[in-house]
Amino acid sequence: MENEKTEFWESAFVEKQEMWGFAPSNSAILVKDFFVRESVKNMLIPGIGYGRNAQIFRDNGITVTGIEISKTAIEMARKHYGPDMIIHHGSVTDMPFDEYRYEGIFCYALIHLLDSSERAKLISDCYHQLSAGGYMVFTVISKEAPTYGKGEMISKDRYEIFDGVKMFFYDRDSINAEFGNFGLFEITEVSENFPFFLIKCRKGTD
Ligand SMILES: C[S@@+](CC[C@H](N)C(=O)[O-])C[C@H]1O[C@@H](n2cnc3c(N)ncnc32)[C@H](O)[C@@H]1O
Repeated sequence: MENEKTEFWESAFVEKQEMWGFAPSNSAILVKDFFVRESVKNMLIPGIGYGRNAQIFRDNGITVTGIEISKTAIEMARKHYGPDMIIHHGSVTDMPFDEYRYEGIFCYALIHLLDSSERAKLISDCYHQLSAGGYMVFTVISKEAPTYGKGEMISKDRYEIFDGVKMFFYDRDSINAEFGNFGLFEITEVSENFPFFLIKCRKGTD
């Protein structure tokens, strides 16, 4: 199962290389503004890919650590953005990779690829790696996406879109159910190549 995922992403990067270009996503720009406003100084990006969403934070003085399942994507990140960014090679399902507490976490277009127990573990693991008062922001695909309901249904709102890629499509109810106990304070809509939600959570300070 885990091997299947590694192979899927590894061959995608080998074949398609910098498949999303170098510009940061719309959500990365919004989250960068938010983190700068909140004086976030260090952050974790699970599923960092080849780093296109990382550089905008680094350009604003934020230290970025990544986690990425594809070795090829990590090599691409090093080539384009230099060797001094720590990127742990492995699956987010094996978090934590370090004992660090981060002031910010940004997880873009990754959690909806996981099954329900993996999603619960990722949310909980990210929350535990936040420092007191820290923020975690997730970008997730919405049920408004035209691909919703296409492919083989695996479980409620989860479909095998194409070979090897299973996606869970979120709405406000499922966001509240999954993130509600983890400091959820804002859900907004954001448009990427698909309609996405931007989910903001904050860890308490006591
Ligand atoms: C849909 S892409 C997210 C987009 C990417 N961050 C970008 O620059 O736009 C998902 C990313 O997460 C990585 N990934 C997928 N499953 C993962 C897992 N279980 N653990 C760590 N990374 C994973 C993929 O290799 C890919 O880089």
